[in-house]
Amino acid sequence: MQEQISALKEDITARIDAASDLAALEDIRVAALGKKGSVSELMKGLGRMSPEERKEMGPALNSLKNDVADAITARKDVLEEAALDARLKSEKVDITLPVLDHAAGSVHPISQVMDEIAEIFASLGFDVAEGPDIESDFHNFTALNIPPEHPARQDHDTFYLKPDANGDRKVLRTHTSPVQIRTMLSKEPPIRIIAPGRTYRSDSDATHTPMFHQVEGLVIDRDTHLGHLKGTLEAFLKAFFEVDAVTLRLRPSYFPFTEPSMEVDVQCSFEGGTVKIGDGNDWLEILGSGMVNPKVLEACNLDPNVYQGFAFGCGIDRLAMLKYGMNDLRAFFDADLRWLKHYGFRALDLPTIAGGLSR
Ligand code: DAH
Repeated sequence: MQEQISALKEDITARIDAASDLAALEDIRVAALGKKGSVSELMKGLGRMSPEERKEMGPALNSLKNDVADAITARKDVLEEAALDARLKSEKVDITLPVLDHAAGSVHPISQVMDEIAEIFASLGFDVAEGPDIESDFHNFTALNIPPEHPARQDHDTFYLKPDANGDRKVLRTHTSPVQIRTMLSKEPPIRIIAPGRTYRSDSDATHTPMFHQVEGLVIDRDTHLGHLKGTLEAFLKAFFEVDAVTLRLRPSYFPFTEPSMEVDVQCSFEGGTVKIGDGNDWLEILGSGMVNPKVLEACNLDPNVYQGFAFGCGIDRLAMLKYGMNDLRAFFDADLRWLKHYGFRALDLPTIAGGLSR
């Protein structure tokens, strides 16, 4: 009997070692340990043995069963690893290969402009911050010094969601300014962020779409002043329009969340039917900005006697139109392949300042 066990063990082990794939190994397992397998059959014989025989053969058969099971598991690991290796080899992609020029798909001008903006502000030490498109009334309005009944709410053509159980209505954010609030509530100054993203207003014509894009800027520190704002905007617009110099005009204006507030115009020319940014006899309004209103700082638990800063907000779609010469905002959202082919950017050309942003 002992000899029979050793012979069986040798035979099964040899076949396990020779199994070339997982299916063959499974067949061997069934033939040995399955209900009618060779090892199982031997185990069944235990019942017919005398108590003395069983005492001797019981442990021997058990260890046979365990050894065979262990050998199968070990072989299974080896085969599985080999199968994975083979799969990895067959699915290998050489990511160093150049992208084919006719590869389908291109980067939408809005995405390109957002990448360019993030790159420029990164070089000035700004982080990119984010907030939700579905925003609370508090973040979108109240904390920005636009309390309920404030007339400025009417200018926003707000999309309201259904009120919740408490009667609070969320809104589709009407501007990127709520990201200012979220940032100030969650971070200690010094703060230097931009927040690019989608914004929504119930308005639609050649220069307005219900969904559009803005980028917000926010700097908070102990002694940030208007000169920093002007210098930052000059550096940004110069880099963005890829010109040697820009001249800015700061016009007094009103926003509830800044004091003082100003609109910023950039000098340009409209000669020959195209806009040239940099010099000329005309001015183009490009963004809103100002020094963060102390009431906004207080709403974010910052002491206005310690901290101050500036903010700005700018329409990205308009920036893209000005830079890349498109004249109808609606085309951005038509998903017309011919338009995308014409105005889109190569998928892997990430804008860098050293590389000349748009080239
Ligand atoms: N949130 C304003 C809007 O959508 C734009 C804006 C103006 C943002 C001035 C600012 C700012 O941060 O300081 O019309």
